[in-house]
Amino acid sequence: MRLKDCHNFRDFRELARRRLPGPIFNYIDGAADDETTYKQNTLSFENVDLVPDVLRGVEEVDMSVTVFGRDLAMPVYCSPTALQRLFHHEGERAVGAAAAKFGTMFGVSSLGTVSLEELRRAHDTPQAYQFYFHKDRGLNRAMLERAKACGVDVMMLTVDSITGGNRERDLRTGFSIPFRLNARGIAQFAVKPAWGVNYLLHERFGLPQLEDHVDMSGGAMSIGRYFTEMLDPAMTWDDAAEMVQQWDGQFCLKGVMSVEDARRAVSIGCNGIILSNHGGRQLDGSRTPFDQLGEIVDAVGNQIEVLMDSGIQRGTHVLKALSMGAKAVGIGRAYLFPLAAAGQAGVERALGLMRAEIERDMRLMGVRSIDELSRTNLRHGFSLAG
Ligand code: FNR
Ligand code: LAC
Repeated sequence: MRLKDCHNFRDFRELARRRLPGPIFNYIDGAADDETTYKQNTLSFENVDLVPDVLRGVEEVDMSVTVFGRDLAMPVYCSPTALQRLFHHEGERAVGAAAAKFGTMFGVSSLGTVSLEELRRAHDTPQAYQFYFHKDRGLNRAMLERAKACGVDVMMLTVDSITGGNRERDLRTGFSIPFRLNARGIAQFAVKPAWGVNYLLHERFGLPQLEDHVDMSGGAMSIGRYFTEMLDPAMTWDDAAEMVQQWDGQFCLKGVMSVEDARRAVSIGCNGIILSNHGGRQLDGSRTPFDQLGEIVDAVGNQIEVLMDSGIQRGTHVLKALSMGAKAVGIGRAYLFPLAAAGQAGVERALGLMRAEIERDMRLMGVRSIDELSRTNLRHGFSLAG
């Protein structure tokens, strides 16, 4: 199986599975508890059907959108994810370059493996910085100042992860952040020698967003332990409001799900919210962002930008979310598996296929631009009354 054989999410996932050591594949692919929410995220798009209009003369298709004051050439952005150089040695460099090529935004995680500054210098496409709020307030301040100094476009505070999700696959494999993966560590990965050799031949693994502040000499740390020991479960709306003030720029909360919280986000001065359940990796049994989207758009859609992520694998998923009122959507695994499968070429192929699907689907829907999409083109499945 090669990159050119990958035509959809499942194909990329399969190529990534073949390439990656089991613990790493399962870290990406896994989710919390019984992974119910993870599965439901994509399934929920099937509850709503698209109703196309025909004979609209759709020769040109414009899928650009404006979010956070910036134009994106396509309505899909790469949501921030941790540890990308572990999945492929090109890591964030590949994702940033592919996003720039497709004229869209990408997020850099607090747990990113390439520095914010390097990525900022390399690309002028909109860059979001995903912020984990640590117990150490000094660290938080320093991270914010650093992001400001380097010219990050959007601050994205993740609010659904004040403690680690129960990732049972990681418990079984012992997956941890390999701060110093040595020869013995590599031996655990010996079944995938190509990955191991490649890993050893490239620069040493690190977490440049954090390493000036966090002592990483203590060896490997599980993601669960990082969340539990370092992130601040006492974070409140006052803390978020203070960050909005300090940042004094485009600011959004990632992981808001309730109408009440969406209203609070407006009241503290956020520019946007991202409906997300973290790809099902945190609270299993939580509602899917797509199911919750209409309610949120109705409540705050004219006051704040509403985005969503979790479960998006297809152009039609994107069109459904945008018809419901989302301004843009984020993808996680839909670019991570391609990254793991083939680095930058993989991410580019995934974004290219996504763009082609959106373009084709817009033609089939009879829609020339994103603002022509609305709920009049959606019906709930099985409903006779609409
Ligand atoms: C994530 N996600 C994530 N979110 C975040 O705010 N900070 C992070 O560091 C990470 N890291 C991370 C790692 C991996 C391996 C995955 C799969 C996800 C969540 C991510 O930004 C996004 O919300 C979900 O991935 C969306 O769900 P899908 O598209 O993967 O279904
Ligand atoms: C995850 C983190 C790091 O989902 O957000 O694994």
